[in-house]
Amino acid sequence: MSRDSLTVVDNRTGSSYELPIQNGAVRALDLREIKVGKEDFGLMIYDPGYMNTASCRSTITYIDGDRGILRYRGYPIEQLAEGASFLEVAYLLYHGKFPEYTEFERWEHGIRYHTMIHEGIKLFLNGFRYDAHPMGILVSTVAALATFYPEAKNIHDPDLRRIQFYRLVAKMPTLAAFAYRHRMGMPYVYPDNTLGYAENFLNMMFHGSEPHRNRAPDFEHNPVLARALDVLFLLHADHEQNCSTSSIRMVGSAHTDPYTAVSAACAALYGPLHGGANEAVLRMLREIGRKDAVPAFIAQVKKGERKLYGFGHRVYKSYDPRARIIKRCADQVFEVMGRNPLIDIALELERIALEDDYFVSRKLYPNVDFYSGIIYECMGFPTEMFPVLFAIPRTPGWYSQWEEHVLDPEQKLARPRQIYLGPDERPFHGVDPDPERG
Ligand code: CMC
Repeated sequence: MSRDSLTVVDNRTGSSYELPIQNGAVRALDLREIKVGKEDFGLMIYDPGYMNTASCRSTITYIDGDRGILRYRGYPIEQLAEGASFLEVAYLLYHGKFPEYTEFERWEHGIRYHTMIHEGIKLFLNGFRYDAHPMGILVSTVAALATFYPEAKNIHDPDLRRIQFYRLVAKMPTLAAFAYRHRMGMPYVYPDNTLGYAENFLNMMFHGSEPHRNRAPDFEHNPVLARALDVLFLLHADHEQNCSTSSIRMVGSAHTDPYTAVSAACAALYGPLHGGANEAVLRMLREIGRKDAVPAFIAQVKKGERKLYGFGHRVYKSYDPRARIIKRCADQVFEVMGRNPLIDIALELERIALEDDYFVSRKLYPNVDFYSGIIYECMGFPTEMFPVLFAIPRTPGWYSQWEEHVLDPEQKLARPRQIYLGPDERPFHGVDPDPERG
């Protein structure tokens, strides 16, 4: 008997089965051999929320949730945040290695020169209501890009796939900034391809805005803010098989073009349990309002009446390493923009929660969304833009995962099974007659 195997005894029949173990997993399909009779479909795995089901083999991102480790292609996130740029990380995620200098120049040029969007997109942007949520606009406009680039349907052509990568990574900030300016009733600012990725985005967002709060004139060209945003972007660039990445893989398994597939990933990200959490954190902090109101809020959370947004994670059962880096980033941004008073409420929430048995016993620690919103708000981004600020940098991760899926010969059309608990076959009698009318 192989040591890399699992022996299972089916107590219904007394039969014994040996299932091979590879990479710490058994294949769900091997369980189908376990049957009580010839007519039996075979054993399935029941796993709502995919709590313990590996859907793919991947070489992109590694997370050890117990030890708080995150690596892209083997590189620790702390080192990348220290020394790499977002576009370098995008290259790393897509190609699996860092580029040579000239290779990187070509790559950056490819992204810089695809930032413009078709003028037609502006026409339907204008059709959105003045108060449309920018994430709703993003979901729709990214999907619409597929109609401008119909050749993207040819997902098996490597050159076409590379061009769609450039386009998606390049155009997401433009779509996002246009969505914001539409909401503000401000004229669109076209991409300036002489600027770096983050700086260009800040410029498209805020150029010509009236300075308010502590925002200095010309702040959109401040190198400290551009670097802080670049670091925030690279921290969000990938996170293995979360809800939105699993969505893009699932939609992609039907060989849908990458624009429509990224739109599906954006839709998943929009939810408050996923990328919408940073927006929920800010609303929560504003509602708490004062440091001395924190204990009462925590008491409500412990009674199950409220959720502490920005805390807890399906994978991290220790401090999210991204949250630690973002917390440090906050100080640099505060130096330029002034301190966001919400940070004091957040720090107090963290202090109390990390000492409280409710959170400690459930291993609930701050996640990436706990501090990011405070920085974004301080930079002048409205709360509604927060999930959009998650979607922009997640695009290279989504795309790399999508492509890995497309190229994986083991992958098939995603089609989970169900356990049917509905009624057995019964005769149809039509709609019951109205008893009033007889
Ligand atoms: N506040 C209060 N209680 C919580 C929280 C929270 N944020 N998160 C989990 N719990 C409790 C939960 O009520 C449950 O308690 P009990 O055992 O008494 O029923 C226990 O902790 C386990 O929670 P779970 O819901 O079974 O854990 P999960 O792995 O399904 O949930 C989560 C993960 C992220 C959905 C959840 O922690 C949550 O809702 N957090 C708040 C939303 C949030 O910040 N989301 C951003 C996630 S990070 C960004 C991203 O990757 O998208």
